[in-house]
Amino acid sequence: MRADLQSYYEREAKLELRKELRSGRLGVRERYLELLAAEGRTSVVDFGSGPGHDGEGFVAAGLRFVGVDLAHGNGLLAAKAGVAVVQGSITAPPIRHGIFEAGWSMSTLMHLMEHQVTAAISAMAGAIGPGAPMMLGMWGGERADNLEEDQIDGERRLFSLRPVELNRRLLETGGTVESSEILPSQNGREYQLFLLRV
Ligand SMILES: C[S@@+](CC[C@H](N)C(=O)[O-])C[C@H]1O[C@@H](n2cnc3c(N)ncnc32)[C@H](O)[C@@H]1O
Repeated sequence: MRADLQSYYEREAKLELRKELRSGRLGVRERYLELLAAEGRTSVVDFGSGPGHDGEGFVAAGLRFVGVDLAHGNGLLAAKAGVAVVQGSITAPPIRHGIFEAGWSMSTLMHLMEHQVTAAISAMAGAIGPGAPMMLGMWGGERADNLEEDQIDGERRLFSLRPVELNRRLLETGGTVESSEILPSQNGREYQLFLLRV
């Protein structure tokens, strides 16, 4: 499954298919930047960063930023945009424990099976340390594991969709969910947002 995902996202990077962020996402990032400023936090790590589009906004806001992504090609694209993205998995991020003060992860956790999520949350939480906030967003809905093959010819990727209450319980193995929200659905799916306090 992970090899499929890596292959998919290497192709996506090579073809430069990842779109610019939509206004809804920019709003979420803006609110998170306000929280980080209020808490005096100056660094953030993005788990499953893609080519670093969110990173560009964090860097522009003056934060120290690094992204972690399965696809090497995303690191190359990010470098062109002046953002650091290192290749690695969110299940074992190549980040020294506690040197980043906040976490961020958008549209990535639904690529992990339910049984893999708690280990990933533990590894991500370990990278940012106790007390740190982490904003997480993921596609979800009625419980289903789908291997989708309709986006890039010859490539497939897992979407493990879970109801919001299940995702909340999985995230709470790594801290306290301070807030959660469901954004208006697209394609019959919902976008779930959680603010986790490690
Ligand atoms: C749908 S894209 C989202 C990219 C970016 N966060 C965004 O919202 O634009 C999912 C990203 O997660 C990465 N990814 C998937 N599984 C991962 C894992 N186990 N560890 C690190 N990155 C992963 C993929 O390479 C891909 O870039």
